[in-house]
Amino acid sequence: MKIIRVKDYQELSQVASQIMIDLLKKKPDATLGLATGSSPIGLYQNIIKSYDNKEISFKQVKTYNLDEYCDLPRTHPESYYNFMHRHLFHHVDIKEENVHVPSAEGSDLQAQCDHYNRLLNQTTIDLQLLGIGGNGHIGFNEPGTPFHNETFVVRLTEKTREDNKRFFNSIDEVPTHAITMGIKNIMKARAILLIASGKSKQKAVYELINGLVTEDFPASILQRHPDVTVVIDEEAAGLL
Ligand code: GLP
Repeated sequence: MKIIRVKDYQELSQVASQIMIDLLKKKPDATLGLATGSSPIGLYQNIIKSYDNKEISFKQVKTYNLDEYCDLPRTHPESYYNFMHRHLFHHVDIKEENVHVPSAEGSDLQAQCDHYNRLLNQTTIDLQLLGIGGNGHIGFNEPGTPFHNETFVVRLTEKTREDNKRFFNSIDEVPTHAITMGIKNIMKARAILLIASGKSKQKAVYELINGLVTEDFPASILQRHPDVTVVIDEEAAGLL
């Protein structure tokens, strides 16, 4: 695990986006695994700047998102499909057919999982971007998720719903379930880039780097991946 410590969120976004930009320059047809949440927003802004400066293009890029809330239509502003278009896809020349976000609408969620998992098994992600939940979740793999899980429907913990409440009007509006790539899908990526910023991530970052590898702390599995870069700011690194 390569740990890069930076000063603040701005520098974190700069350093992390540069890793993605360098990949896209070297491999214009790269396959990216993308994440939502507040952590990657600055990174996406830098990616858009780099695209505007004609340093990179998304013409041949394929993307696969980690997860999606159940029971939110794709048009809902907090659906991850909508988030990704608002923060990245609408601003670059990616082809819509190359964008993949799990579909979590409809009554047959298992069929949606199987479909997304088939797509994931037909490809290899070059770089998987990850944030980390305060309880160590990656994607929406909550504590206790078996490491061998592939794409599945998860019941979100109350901690995660509380953490994500800030994006909604009230806790009642936060979905109770989501579809997420499993740990096994995430571990198949060639390289992983995890970003964490702020005091609220201190404990999670400490466990990620120094904790036991255990299903009780899903992100700990990354200690066993051969190519992980973790970019953290001073506040997130506070307990190291
Ligand atoms: C959500 C997402 C994760 C994300 C995490 C942290 O639950 N499913 O992919 O990493 O929250 O979010 P934030 O970056 O907003 O702290």
